[in-house]
Amino acid sequence: MRDSGVTWDEGWRGWIVAGHKDVAELLSSDRMTAERLPNIGSQQSEDTRVAADIMSRWIVFLDPPKHTAIRPKVAPPFSPRAIREIDGLITSTFREHMESLRGQTEMDFMREVAFPFPATVIAGLFGVPAADLPVFGQWSDDVASLMHSGSTEPAQGVQSLLQLADYLRSLFRSGVTGPLMKHLDGLDEEDLVATCVLFLFAGHETTKNLLGNMLVTLSDWPEEQRRLWSGEVSEKRAVEELLRYEGPAKATVRIAARDVAIGDTVIEAGQKILLALGGANRDPKVFDRPDDLVLERSESGSLAFGYGIHFCVGAPLARFEAQVALRELPRFWTGYGDVPPPEDRQWQPRLLNRGLDELPMRVAWR
Ligand code: HEM
Repeated sequence: MRDSGVTWDEGWRGWIVAGHKDVAELLSSDRMTAERLPNIGSQQSEDTRVAADIMSRWIVFLDPPKHTAIRPKVAPPFSPRAIREIDGLITSTFREHMESLRGQTEMDFMREVAFPFPATVIAGLFGVPAADLPVFGQWSDDVASLMHSGSTEPAQGVQSLLQLADYLRSLFRSGVTGPLMKHLDGLDEEDLVATCVLFLFAGHETTKNLLGNMLVTLSDWPEEQRRLWSGEVSEKRAVEELLRYEGPAKATVRIAARDVAIGDTVIEAGQKILLALGGANRDPKVFDRPDDLVLERSESGSLAFGYGIHFCVGAPLARFEAQVALRELPRFWTGYGDVPPPEDRQWQPRLLNRGLDELPMRVAWR
């Protein structure tokens, strides 16, 4: 796909763009709009209307000037500096969680580690008590399905979105707070609730998938795994390359606000465009040997967290959590565990996300 540049996909009824230059250009073009609320059911239902109102406040769906006004208010909790303030908390969350699993030699990594670790971190940062994690996780998964799969049964996702919002509203009203809430100044209550719903689901779903993707990728590249393990390559660099190679955000979507030409192809105003971040990250014009995992790769330009004004707000948190996992896992286990071979892996059937449904594995504890 990445050689053909721009292709029309009849099944999806939109354009697919996979070249690095084109994807980056379109992500920073004012000819594109990010206003693309998914179809979540009939607007005649009150629940659907309220859910749509919440989503319409998410910065990921806003264009300037609304986006420009709200982004500086929602980004501070995840600045590299704010994350440095809580790095000890993140590491101890991981260690405590691993201790709670000690001795378990067979597990589904996605369920036992990849989900609870980032979910506990993000929930804790906003004051959600650990006891509420399972139900919050279920709501969050339902919202993710609503967002990513073009679900034909959106009712469950809408209900979960509303429950998550109600839950957060009463949490904030009761004065419960977490270490990052102090950074979220200047939002009215509805924007605050909507933003935190976005953080809670965007913040754990993608990172969960990244953790699973990293383990299977490292297992497929044993020599690179060895170099990471022996300290020849830092976790920081390894995470960047693992994000490029098998990042959890496969693609994002924009709508053409005006006609736009890419080479000989004209994308007409109103048409939708799938921007293949994963394809762009394997573009041979930018990355030498793009299909090889090279942990010490020198080229930059990965689009794993997007590009332009919507570049991922949570990137510093996600990067740090991934580094903690790579550094800490071999301190608990004698390696990164025995994962199933490629043909036995269950990938989620989602257009925009790359993540495993489950990752059954065997581990040996130190
Ligand atoms: C490995 C983990 C993650 C990946 C791969 C990822 C990926 C992305 C991508 C590709 C975008 C741009 C979407 C677009 O342009 O349409 C984005 C935006 C965003 N991400 Fe992440 N994300 C991750 C983790 C997080 C975390 C931990 C949070 C927050 C807790 C977060 C919050 C957001 C928000 C709020 C936006 C919207 C920014 C804006 O529109 O200005 N993400 N993310």
